[in-house]
Amino acid sequence: MTVPIKISPSILSADFSKLGDEVISLEKAGADYIHIDVMDGHFVPNLTIGPEVIKKLRPLTNKTFDVHLMISPVDKFINDFAAAGADIITFHPEATKNTSKTIELIKAKNKKVGISLKPKSSIDLILDYLDEIDLVLIMSVEPGFGGQKFMPEVLEKTKKIKEIIDKKKLNIDIEIDGGINFENCNLVKEAGANIIVSGSTIFKENKGDLKKNIEILKKS
Ligand code: DX5
Ligand code: ZN
Repeated sequence: MTVPIKISPSILSADFSKLGDEVISLEKAGADYIHIDVMDGHFVPNLTIGPEVIKKLRPLTNKTFDVHLMISPVDKFINDFAAAGADIITFHPEATKNTSKTIELIKAKNKKVGISLKPKSSIDLILDYLDEIDLVLIMSVEPGFGGQKFMPEVLEKTKKIKEIIDKKKLNIDIEIDGGINFENCNLVKEAGANIIVSGSTIFKENKGDLKKNIEILKKS
């Protein structure tokens, strides 16, 4: 059975001076989701955007806002991101004292819940929560910056998570994020990922031809 692949372009590689136009262009180019990387300069060594920006982008598209929170402590901002228009809210277990509570906060806002694992984070961090979450986001670079090199060692972890999810017959998406390019995207699909995040490949390859780049990532 072939699993449909979704492409979630990361706006981290977009031109922030015209972010609204970039999101509209991504929708026209066939993006399935819009991946929004939120960084706090504390959980990761970089700063990006907050709920106000997401709120301004929200009326421009109906596409799913796939919000990746790299902020700690995460709980106090969940309501703000939910109100701003996030559809999927993904957090890192290291950014909360109580993973169950963070999941509950997101669910209370009727949003989909994702948990993200950094390249060195163990699968054990998610095992107890599989019945409650919608998505696992596997980081294939250290979170913080776009344009880094893919870490092939996360493929094994992806395969293991896929096995566990299938065995338990759970309906959980496996998303992969970081350093995905035209060469490695088939490897991550083979390993079990069904949502592919990409920033630099989508915005920079083929002179920034978003449509072409999304198509190649989807089909290869
Ligand atoms: C890294 C972010 C990624 C990143 C992906 O912390 O979570 O979403 O923007 O960008 P590329 O595809 O350039 O690695
Ligand atoms: Zn991300």
